[in-house]
Amino acid sequence: MEILIIGSGGREHALAWKIAQSPMVKKIFCAPGNPGIAEIAECVDIGVENIEGLYSFALKQKIDLTVVGPEDPLVAGIVDRFNEGNLTIFGPNKRASIIEGSKVFSKNLMKKHGIPTADFKVFEDSTQAKKHVSMCEFPLIVKVDGLAKGKGVFVCKTLEEANKCTDDILENKIFGPAGDKVIIEEFLSGEEVSILALTDGITILPLSSVQDHKAVNDGDKGPNTGGMGAYSPVPIITRELQFYIEENILVPIVHAMKRENRPYKGVLYAGLMITSTGPKVLEFNARFGDPETQVLLMRMKTDLVPLLLSTATNTLENIEIEWNKGVSICVVMTSKGYPDKYEKGFEISGLETVRELDNVQVLHAGTATKDGKIVTNGGRVLGVTAIGKDIQEAQKTVYRAIQNITFEGAHYRRDIGAKAMYRKS
Ligand code: AMP
Ligand code: GLY
Repeated sequence: MEILIIGSGGREHALAWKIAQSPMVKKIFCAPGNPGIAEIAECVDIGVENIEGLYSFALKQKIDLTVVGPEDPLVAGIVDRFNEGNLTIFGPNKRASIIEGSKVFSKNLMKKHGIPTADFKVFEDSTQAKKHVSMCEFPLIVKVDGLAKGKGVFVCKTLEEANKCTDDILENKIFGPAGDKVIIEEFLSGEEVSILALTDGITILPLSSVQDHKAVNDGDKGPNTGGMGAYSPVPIITRELQFYIEENILVPIVHAMKRENRPYKGVLYAGLMITSTGPKVLEFNARFGDPETQVLLMRMKTDLVPLLLSTATNTLENIEIEWNKGVSICVVMTSKGYPDKYEKGFEISGLETVRELDNVQVLHAGTATKDGKIVTNGGRVLGVTAIGKDIQEAQKTVYRAIQNITFEGAHYRRDIGAKAMYRKS
């Protein structure tokens, strides 16, 4: 088979790394890819937003399966375009991707179907929004309706902050039309967990649990990012809780999407808060998580390709997933300043040393090649991913490996996996 992966981050490098191990695969292409991916796939210079370009390439190259990484092409309808041309593609179509594309849609759907989520109200008018905020308890959450590259959620501690936030979104339009509506939402406390599931719209196949670390600094301090690191499995997710999530969140949401005439096919990502009164949904995403995918695929024993194909072709029933024993962990190295402004172009050294280490993979995200050297080229630069028999061993391995890698202004969290240790002791 020939496979096309769309995207250029750590998630796509992890997908390429895992897909390359499949005996079913003859060749992998990645559009646009990155220097890490280029070691195992042929990178083609087509942007993720260029749906016609990607379609023409897949058609001409007779690609057997296309796997979409990021949300933007999904929400823009890439799956619909490929389906029209009878090309096999993994991911939800445009109507189903709205589950990530509009938070207002997904909140209303959860409310309608009794799926546990934070209480909320939706506003288009800033005066109305501020009137509501003045009656709320703090902290509270303000969310932009549309896609905002992970930057559209604000935890507001004071009335002033919340008012400024609603004004910035609804009046000053800092998110453009994505911010035509805001959600004012109850603040939930607890531990965050990501539960991803493959579904063909009928069968639901949950993957193992993962915990992401969104805040940029240790101790969950500082602004939220796309994700600073993750580990899997998560001890807080007991078998009972896993069943509870399946029955009360995954099954009803897939059913609800069908009832709305938006049948969902692909990977469904539920971002959950495990509160004292049970799991509640923070958001749904229509794609694999980043860095969740890195740790999940490091633990996955089963060949990924039949899983993706079965999802895309409605044959997921009777498929089981086997996981390697132990714990996997990913620590993301970022450019100084991320998630705000940062500089690019700094040489990365030590990658060759880490290549020799057992149980470790470096998965590239924002990297580029310049004069034959690998340099930084994004906020999240790379993710060092390791596997060990338990969280202690995995953590030791990943942090030892990371010490070999240097670039100017490199930043990473030192406490990825700490919550799992705390729970175990
Ligand atoms: P979302 O994109 O909706 O998942 O939000 C991004 C991040 O904001 C989440 O991963 C949480 O860390 C935080 N967040 C979102 N909604 C809430 C909430 N209701 N209560 C507390 N934190 C939240
Ligand atoms: N790691 C969070 C996300 O992929 O949305």
